[in-house]
Amino acid sequence: MNLHEHVVLRGITLSGRVVRSATELFCSYPDGHVHPYEFSVYDELSRSGAGMILTAHTCVSPEGRSNVWQNAVWSDEYLADATKIAAAAQAHGIPCVMQLGHGGMKGEKNNGGLPFVTPDNATEVDIRRIVKAFGAGALRAKRAGFAGVQLHAAHLYLFSQWFYPEYNHRTDGYGSCAENRFRIVRESFEEIKAVCGGDFPVLLKINGDDRENTAAYHRDLVTVLNLCDALGFSAAEISGWDSARHGVPSSPYFLDNIRLLHKETSLPLIAVGGIRSGADVDALLSAGACAISMARPFLQNPGIVSVLERGGVSGCTGCCACFRALDVTGERIVRCGCRK
Ligand SMILES: Cc1cc2nc3c(=O)[nH]c(=O)nc-3n(C[C@H](O)[C@H](O)[C@H](O)COP(=O)(O)O)c2cc1C
Repeated sequence: MNLHEHVVLRGITLSGRVVRSATELFCSYPDGHVHPYEFSVYDELSRSGAGMILTAHTCVSPEGRSNVWQNAVWSDEYLADATKIAAAAQAHGIPCVMQLGHGGMKGEKNNGGLPFVTPDNATEVDIRRIVKAFGAGALRAKRAGFAGVQLHAAHLYLFSQWFYPEYNHRTDGYGSCAENRFRIVRESFEEIKAVCGGDFPVLLKINGDDRENTAAYHRDLVTVLNLCDALGFSAAEISGWDSARHGVPSSPYFLDNIRLLHKETSLPLIAVGGIRSGADVDALLSAGACAISMARPFLQNPGIVSVLERGGVSGCTGCCACFRALDVTGERIVRCGCRK
């Protein structure tokens, strides 16, 4: 299996088919600045043989902070940190893309008491401000040297909440049909292209299913993926409702969703979730994914690409200790419960 085959997307070429999925390390300082440990992780990833590195979701606006250890990009104060990450990650030619996010209701306990935003309580002024914040964050990512940005519209953060009818009860132009529930993402994309230039790559991460994996959600998703294709997104990474499960997966979580989606959209799809072996990679590429993406296997072993190439399997046991805040106060840095 050649995992180093290049994948040419709009505006960005992956140097291989295995991507490091966006992975927060839960270690930034309370003011949103990056801990030195995180720079060392990007340095390590730069030598991993991945085809692209996606950063942790980085918050575009203070009220949208999803947890108190999250990185920020809501002002020029964070440009130096971003520049250091881009330089470390791309030292050996792997393109690095900053994932931009807004936590929506997840900001409630994490944003220092600011009013938090939900699809239902957001005013048109809030929407304009958030769209502008995504544009400004992307421009900072571009100035910092990133190869592109990914919009985090998965995992029940703001854009994901907005797309699910159970969280979006609006009756104006930002609610009801799929196009309206995706409109804030489309407007953010258009704002990014306006401020960064049409050739600056924008990727999407979105859930491939809803709570019950319904046909209605699938139809809505096909509609917006085809819209993304027409608008000029570079690719969509397909995650899902239950995105990072405990235990060793028996197969990639969203294999069937990728297979179905690929038949109905020409937008390049990147598969993520529960991928642990070369056989998993083969199955997803055969199902139509242009690349595959992993999070926990890279935490467990940054050399996972060569493990897969040699026919090996990831040692990630799905203990999920990686979701705990990093203990960076003492000598101990624990980021993976199954790392040897
Ligand atoms: C510790 C940890 C942090 C994560 N942080 C992010 C993130 O910042 N943005 C995101 O889109 N997904 C995030 N995820 C989800 C992963 O990108 C991925 O979708 C999920 O873990 C499934 O892939 P895996 O089975 O290879 O871990 C995170 C996952 C883990 C385990």
